Amino acid sequence: MKKIIIDTDPGQDDAVAILLALASPEDLDVLGIVAVAGNVGLNQNVKNALKVVELSGRTSIPVYAGCERPLRRPLVTAEHVHGQTGLDGPNLPNPKIDIQPTHGVDYIVETLMQAAPKTITLCALGPLTNIAMALIKQPAIAERIAEIVLMGGGYFEAGNITPAAEFNIYVDPEAADVVMRSGAPITIQPLDVSHGMQATPERLAAIRQLGNKTGTAVHAMLSFSETFDLKKYGWAGAPLHDPTVIAYLLQPELFEGRQCNVSIETASELTVGMTVVDYWHVTDKPRNATYLRHGNADGYFALLTERLARLP
Ligand code: BDR
Ligand code: CA
Repeated sequence: MKKIIIDTDPGQDDAVAILLALASPEDLDVLGIVAVAGNVGLNQNVKNALKVVELSGRTSIPVYAGCERPLRRPLVTAEHVHGQTGLDGPNLPNPKIDIQPTHGVDYIVETLMQAAPKTITLCALGPLTNIAMALIKQPAIAERIAEIVLMGGGYFEAGNITPAAEFNIYVDPEAADVVMRSGAPITIQPLDVSHGMQATPERLAAIRQLGNKTGTAVHAMLSFSETFDLKKYGWAGAPLHDPTVIAYLLQPELFEGRQCNVSIETASELTVGMTVVDYWHVTDKPRNATYLRHGNADGYFALLTERLARLP
């Protein structure tokens, strides 16, 4: 059983990732969820996280608010993809559960410092601001983290917010740089994997046919995401990014990649936020990450559908 903290900016695909984790209690012990500014502003992301926790029925899972803006740059948001609420699509009630009083960054630091070393995995589904702030505030956490598994970046598939950069890294490249240099074990789920994870009409129908409240809500979320992404890519289904992080923890055999150096561009105006991946080991820079490149889409959607069936 892995203990995890989910750092997130929900976001329809973040919401599905959270639900996948909460539907898998025999594999994953979700200690807490920390919101970060990203897809929309912090307060709305917190509200969305609370709504998703309520939808899952796991209302004892604590939700914290982290940072409201990137380390050095003004916040860039993605209402054009996720809608004004960040979670457009389903009609979820206003949450009754409350946010925790502790700041999300302090929660991450305190939890890691109190737990036995290498027992907690950080799952990062948004810009890396909170995790970088935690590493800056208490550098000793780097060697206590079991693993950071993050959705971000892209190399063979390039960018989705600029030609060179993926959204999560682009929003806070300085934070991504702090994380990549931290020395903590890192696994990256980039666009190179998630672009192959397309929510086709058949896969969406299987989720709707679950017939539970969660299946109906997830179907509405992902149908909303389709509207933007299908126009953009012209594919059979929109890529489902963030649940790849949780699926990796549940069934790592669904994914393939290799250890290599991943560095973040923070200076160039043209390519800021680019993940520069030394996939072919052409430098002797330290191999600071496992960079995943391929995923089994049928296995991924089968896992997701089977687990979502367990929720209310
Ligand atoms: C990432 O950006 C966000 O909009 C999604 O939630 C995902 O984390 C994909 O580039
Ligand atoms: Ca996200």
